[in-house]
Amino acid sequence: MLINKIEIKKEKKLYTSLDLYKLVESSIYLYENEDEYYYKPKDSKEWYYEWDFKEYNPNIYSHGFHQYPAKFIPQLVRKLLRVFTNENSIILDNFMGSGTTLIESMLLNRKKAIGIELNPFACFIAKVKTTPINPNNLTKYYLCLKKEFFNLKNFNLYKFYNIEFWYKEHQIRDLSKLREIIMNIDDENIKNFFLICFSEVVRRVSLTNHNGFKLHRDKNKLRDDFNPNVFWHFDNISQRNIALMKDFYYKTMNSKTEIQIIHSDSRIKQDIENNSVDLIITSPPYGDSRTTVAYGQFSRLSWQWIKNDNSVFKIDENLLGGRIKKNYENNILDYSNTLKIQYNSIKDKDSKRADEVLSFYLDLYDALKNAYNYLKEDKYFVLVTGNRTVKNVFLRTDLIISELAGKIGFRTEKILYRNIINKRMPKRNSPTNRKGETSTTMLKENIIFLRKS
Ligand SMILES: C[S@@+](CC[C@H](N)C(=O)[O-])C[C@H]1O[C@@H](n2cnc3c(N)ncnc32)[C@H](O)[C@@H]1O
Repeated sequence: MLINKIEIKKEKKLYTSLDLYKLVESSIYLYENEDEYYYKPKDSKEWYYEWDFKEYNPNIYSHGFHQYPAKFIPQLVRKLLRVFTNENSIILDNFMGSGTTLIESMLLNRKKAIGIELNPFACFIAKVKTTPINPNNLTKYYLCLKKEFFNLKNFNLYKFYNIEFWYKEHQIRDLSKLREIIMNIDDENIKNFFLICFSEVVRRVSLTNHNGFKLHRDKNKLRDDFNPNVFWHFDNISQRNIALMKDFYYKTMNSKTEIQIIHSDSRIKQDIENNSVDLIITSPPYGDSRTTVAYGQFSRLSWQWIKNDNSVFKIDENLLGGRIKKNYENNILDYSNTLKIQYNSIKDKDSKRADEVLSFYLDLYDALKNAYNYLKEDKYFVLVTGNRTVKNVFLRTDLIISELAGKIGFRTEKILYRNIINKRMPKRNSPTNRKGETSTTMLKENIIFLRKS
C-alpha cells in the first residue's frame, strides 16, 4: 500500500513533456510509401497509438532467420527510427541481442548502426542478419550442399561435452555430416548463413523442451517415435531463410548503412565517441537471466555445434546482474527511492535475493552512464523493459530507471506501456522459488523515453 502511494506521486512528477502523438503525427507522411509489414493505412489515427503491433508479422526480412529470447518487434523499432532519426543519423543499441535495431536501421538507410552485445552467439546471429547475400548464390550453394549430403560416406563424428545427453545417435550422425559440409564452404558469408540455418535445426532435433529458454531435457523425446529427420528440417529452414534473404537483399540494395557490432560489455566504456549518437534504442535484460530468460542456456547447444566454445557455459553469469556485487562505488539506493523501498522489502524476506536484485540495477546504472556519454545533447534514449516480481514484490523497473537516469542527467519524458504478445516468454514464474507457487511474469512492457539534457 505504502509503495503504491509513492509510485503514484512519482509517476505524476516523472513523465511530462513529450507529446508523442504530435511527433508521430508529424512523421506520418513518411509512412505513406511504407509496405504493409509496418503500416496499415486503413486506420491511421489508431495507428498513432499502436505500440503492441499484435496484428503484424515480426518475422519479416532477415528478422525471421533465427529465434532469440525477448526479441524486439521490428515494427516498434521502425516507428521509433521514423520518429527520431533521419538518413544522417547514428543509432546505437547497447543490448543488441540478435540485431533487430541494426536491421531496421539498414532497411531505412540510416548512416550508421552500432550494437554492443556480450553473448557471442547473439553477435553471430546479428552479423548474419545484417549481411545481405544475393539469393541466387545461396540457392546454387544450397543445391551443391544437398547433393553432397546424400553422397558423403566418410565424415567425422562431432563431439562436445554431454552431446549424447541432448541428442540421439542418428541425429548426431546427420548433424555431424551436415556441419562438416557447411564448414567446407569457401565463402565466409555463405558459410555463416547456412550455419544459422543449421543452428535452428540443432534446436529442433534435440531432446530439449522448447517451451521456455532454459535448457531442459524432455523425457517424452526419449521414446522411439521421436526421430526427427535432420535434412528435412534443414531443407525447410534453408528455403524459408533464402526467401527472407531475397526480400532483405533487394530492399537493402541501395542502403549505405555502416554496421558496427561490438562484442563486449555495455557496463564498460566502449570505443564510441562521446556526444556522437543520435538515438539509442535498446531492451536490456529484465534481471532474470538466470531464472527465466536465460540467454546463455538458450545459446548453448547452437554455439557448441558452431564453435565448440565452452565460454558459452559462463554467459548467463557474465550478463547484467549475473553476479552478486559486494563492493560498489555508487550507492544507487540513495539515487532511487523506489529501489530503496523495494530492496528493503525483499531484504526482509531474503537478503541474498535482495542483493541479486541490487546487483542487477548497479550493472544497469553503469550501462546507463555510458549511454549518456555516447548520446548527443537533447537526443533520446528509448528503453523497452519489463517489471517483474521477486519475493512477491512487484519491482518497478520503469520508475527505478527513471530515477537512476535522472541522477545521471537524463530527463524522463514519457513512459508508455505495451502488451507483450509476440515474445516467447513463460506467463508464470515462481517468485518464492517454492514448488507450486507462481505469479504472473511481465505481460506488459514499459517504453521509457529518456532525453539527454
Ligand atoms: C532483451 S535482449 C535484447 C534483444 C534484442 N532487442 C533483439 O531484438 O534481439 C538483452 C540482451 O542483452 C545482452 N546483455 C546482457 N548483459 C549485457 C552486457 N553487460 N553487455 C552487453 N550485452 C548484454 C543479452 O545477452 C541479451 O542478448
